[in-house]
Amino acid sequence: MADTVKLVWDDKTYELPVIVGSEGEKAIDISRLRQDTGFITMDPGFANTGSCKSAITFMDGEKGILRYRGYPIEQLAEHSSFREVAYLLINGELPTRKQITRFSVLLNDHSLIHEDMRHFFGNFPRQSHPMGILSSMVNALKSFYPYLADTEEEIDIIVTRLISKVRTLAAMSYKISRGHTVIYPRPDLSYCENFLNMMFDSPVRPYEIDPDVVHALSVFLILHGDHEQNCSTSAVRLVGSGRVNLYAAISAGIAALWGPLHGGANQAVIEMLGRIDRKEMTINEAVERAKDKNDPFRLMGFGHRVYKTYDPRTKIIKQVCDRLLTKLNINDSLLDIAQTLEDIAVNDEYFISHNLYPNIDFYSGIVLRAIGIPTSMFTVMFAIGRLPGWIAQWKESMEDPEWKLNRPRQIFTGPQIRDYVPIEKRTVKV
Ligand code: CMC
Repeated sequence: MADTVKLVWDDKTYELPVIVGSEGEKAIDISRLRQDTGFITMDPGFANTGSCKSAITFMDGEKGILRYRGYPIEQLAEHSSFREVAYLLINGELPTRKQITRFSVLLNDHSLIHEDMRHFFGNFPRQSHPMGILSSMVNALKSFYPYLADTEEEIDIIVTRLISKVRTLAAMSYKISRGHTVIYPRPDLSYCENFLNMMFDSPVRPYEIDPDVVHALSVFLILHGDHEQNCSTSAVRLVGSGRVNLYAAISAGIAALWGPLHGGANQAVIEMLGRIDRKEMTINEAVERAKDKNDPFRLMGFGHRVYKTYDPRTKIIKQVCDRLLTKLNINDSLLDIAQTLEDIAVNDEYFISHNLYPNIDFYSGIVLRAIGIPTSMFTVMFAIGRLPGWIAQWKESMEDPEWKLNRPRQIFTGPQIRDYVPIEKRTVKV
């Protein structure tokens, strides 16, 4: 394969270097394009723009492949735990026994949050969305833990502190929003057990930890661990490129994840299925509205920027969903609606021709409902899962010798130079 691409403009030819990744994907290096030719590239939504080189996650959207550090998502979901996958994403290799023990000890040691932070919660209005609260609280961590690391060991501590505390903050915000007693983390419980216990234990009704529920939660979090340069990860990298502290960069990622086209889709799916369940619209009406170009309605949980076939995570979460509902003896009408909706959509010409398949969010909300997580907390669950990925991407960008302040260009389409008009001479254009 040639190692340059030729760009011909008027009578000049420019040679642009080709970059090839370890899985054969190709890029044209345009980093000198503007200096050499005066051109910038235009790619709204960045669908064809590579923003970095990364060794963390590989996705093939045409074949439906997802791998973390080379390991297929199917194998990690079957054999690993969320704690181990978090270690893998951040450190690049699966941990030895000694390494995972140290990681677990650090997770336990840093699971409590500064008691003063609790006062913050009380001051958010009751109807505040937990994603707004989480984003603010993570940003506030810098004020409570101002010292940021220099050595590798200190970075380890800051990273584990964040993973551990986000889980405590999430559970605490839920308890406080309901006016319930806050439950503290317990050192004898695993990462997922601890989260469930902090969410659902109460002084009057002790929470019984069910290994199948723990397993479902662990797989849910593993599946959300990383997804290369998606909207929130790009936000973490972009904000981080200004050399802001880790907490601020992650807080930006949480804010980006909140949107219904990204992490907020899991909540939006349940709301859509709920509307069908309450007979506010039929399944066929939902499908027809999604196809209507004059209607902004979209089938939530369908479609993906990268996957043009079945999202590999959907198959796994659907299996987890079926197993969990059977085990807990839950008959969720939303699951029946989702299955019928999927059957109709995947056989519909519009969805086939647009390569629209169910994504992970289509079934993940039903799993979370079965676990007992309230709908408003769904995107927070996504954030807990995505946190190791954000941290890994932030760390990689900080260590990248080629890394620069992220600063895209634009094509200006506004007015050309004109003189200032005093207020008494201004008129409104009709
Ligand atoms: N329902 C109906 N039509 C759709 C949908 C949908 N869910 N998604 C895309 N389309 C159509 C869209 O109208 C457009 O049609 P046309 O070319 O005829 O104008 C075409 O497909 C391409 O859409 P696009 O918005 O340009 O494609 P995109 O790559 O920007 O969209 C997406 C990706 C995820 C934003 C979009 O599929 C969507 O809005 N899905 C619903 C929200 C959702 O489930 N989001 C979760 C994504 S997975 C979790 C995550 O990683 O964040």
